[in-house]
Amino acid sequence: MRLIVTGTQGQVVSALIERGPAHGVDIVAIGRPDLDLADPASVEAALARIEGDAIINAAAYTAVDKAESEEDLATRINGAGAGAVAKVAAERGLPLLHISTDYVFDGALDRPYLESDATGPVGAYGRSKLAGEQAVAAACPDAAIFRTAWVYSPFGGNFVKTMLRLGETREELSVVADQRGAPTSALDIADALIAAAKKRLAEPDNEALAGLFHLTGGGEATWAEFAQEIFADAERFGRKPVKVKPIATKDYPTPARRPANSRLSHEKLARIYGISLPDWRLSTRACVARLLQPQN
Ligand SMILES: NC(=O)c1ccc[n+]([C@@H]2O[C@H](COP(=O)([O-])OP(=O)(O)OC[C@H]3O[C@@H](n4cnc5c(N)ncnc54)[C@H](OP(=O)(O)O)[C@@H]3O)[C@@H](O)[C@H]2O)c1
Repeated sequence: MRLIVTGTQGQVVSALIERGPAHGVDIVAIGRPDLDLADPASVEAALARIEGDAIINAAAYTAVDKAESEEDLATRINGAGAGAVAKVAAERGLPLLHISTDYVFDGALDRPYLESDATGPVGAYGRSKLAGEQAVAAACPDAAIFRTAWVYSPFGGNFVKTMLRLGETREELSVVADQRGAPTSALDIADALIAAAKKRLAEPDNEALAGLFHLTGGGEATWAEFAQEIFADAERFGRKPVKVKPIATKDYPTPARRPANSRLSHEKLARIYGISLPDWRLSTRACVARLLQPQN
């Protein structure tokens, strides 16, 4: 199986490139400058040159705070750009797996969000990703859209790497403790997307495989609990303890508002695809170990 993936350096695309061989899958990653989601013509031209069995749209504008002052660009990339990928998938009859976000919700519900719950993004990034979900569904109705959240990995910039960097010089860190979600390893996302693509190809007439699915790590946490776990894991590699001081979102102002409740129900993904991600603590431990263990 050969998967065409948008983006080249991102967390999820890097994880797909790494995990592909273990699943017997070729990953062909294509990104800027050849494929620029801000330029639909480049998307069509770049994808036309590549043979593959399915497309994963893993590229996106992901700068949540910056999007508040660049909403037009974010929407062009995450909205129309995603739609352009979907148009190619539909024209070529290729299964499309598109990635979206928990930020399409306002976070006001007091339970994990279902795929059927009403959306209501509270920031520009969430609005741009919701525009993408709508553009993808319109251009390619049998696309599968996977909403994930709180992504970390050994690649790129993310919360785990930031905590490990700050923990080198700080004895205490203040971390937000009133947003709940599920830390999600990009490597686990990659394994899940590859399994999902295989199922799509094996069951081309199974209409239940299309539509919205929630794909996040097992369990739940606040950012403060996530940080505590990272520092506890790091101590096993000789790092000194770092105290986490829980604070409220209002005491850590950011340009973009974020949903207080980012928890997404995994029930539909497990029922339809038979896929569940490992508990976030296990995958966090593996990520920290990989980042801190001495290189051989
Ligand atoms: N990170 C999170 O916490 C999080 C949470 C929820 C959902 N998601 C979603 O998960 C997916 C993967 O995110 P990630 O964490 O892997 O993101 P990431 O590490 O920020 O990588 C984004 C990728 O998109 C590419 N990209 C950005 N603008 C582009 C453009 N105009 N044309 C082509 N490629 C472009 C980047 O390319 P360059 O390498 O050229 O910069 C990079 O490869 C995205 O759909 C994101 O919205 C992420």
